[in-house]
Amino acid sequence: MERLQKVIANSGYTSRRKAEDLIEKGKVKVNGQVVSELGTKVKPNDVIEVEGVELSKEEKEYYLLYKPRGVISSTDDDKGRKTVVELINTRSRIYPIGRLDYDTTGVLLLTNDGDFANMLMHPSNRVEKVYFVKVEGIIKGEHIRMLEKGVVIDGVKTSKAKAKLKRIDKKQKTSYVELVIHEGRNHQVKKMFEAIGFEVLKLSRERVAFFTLDGLTSGEYRTLKPKEVKQAFSLFEK
Ligand code: URA
Repeated sequence: MERLQKVIANSGYTSRRKAEDLIEKGKVKVNGQVVSELGTKVKPNDVIEVEGVELSKEEKEYYLLYKPRGVISSTDDDKGRKTVVELINTRSRIYPIGRLDYDTTGVLLLTNDGDFANMLMHPSNRVEKVYFVKVEGIIKGEHIRMLEKGVVIDGVKTSKAKAKLKRIDKKQKTSYVELVIHEGRNHQVKKMFEAIGFEVLKLSRERVAFFTLDGLTSGEYRTLKPKEVKQAFSLFEK
C-alpha cells in the first residue's frame, strides 16, 4: 500500500506537491470514486485517474543526455523555450533528475521512475557531481581552499567539496577548475564562485555518480543499460 500522492508523483505525471493539489481539488479518482483526502493508501492494482486520464503502468525508462546549451531542464516551459524532454524520442512521461541551468551543458539523467530519481537526488545519498568550470580571473590556492571548506550561499554554508585548479590562461585572465560536490542547491556552482568573488563564464557537468559523457556529443543521448540502473540502486538504495 502506498500513499496516493506518491503513486501519482512516481508515475511521472506531476510533482508530489501538484499531486496533492489535484487530490484536494477532487481531480483524482481511485477505482472510479473521487478521493480528495491526502494520504489515502492505494494498492498496486487500484485504477487511478488524474484529471480524467488513467495513470498507465508505463515501462520504466532511463536516459543519459549530454545537455547542450540553450535548453531548459524541465518538462515544459511557459516561455516556449526548448526543453530537455523534447530532445528525447519517447512517448513516456519522463522528466529530468535535477536541473542544469539554461546555459549549462553536460550530464543530465532523465527517467519516468520516481524511485530512481528520488534516490539520486536525496541529499543523504551524497551522490557526487563533477563540474568543469571556466571563470573570469585568476584562481589561487586560497580560493580552492575556500571552495573546499565551504562557502556561504543564500545564508547557508555549502558542505565540504573537492576542487582542483586545472589551468590558468594568463592572457585571457581566465581559470579552469574542477569542482566535485554532492549537494544540489539552486545554481550552486555559480553561487559558490560568486561567493569567493568570481564570475562563472562556462559550466559543464562531467559526471553524476558513475554516469559520464563518454561516447556522447552535445545534444546526444543514450538509454541506460539495465546493469547501470541496477548498479545505481545497489550503491544508493537503503
Ligand atoms: N550549478 C549551477 O550554478 N548551475 C548548474 O546548472 C548546475 C550547478
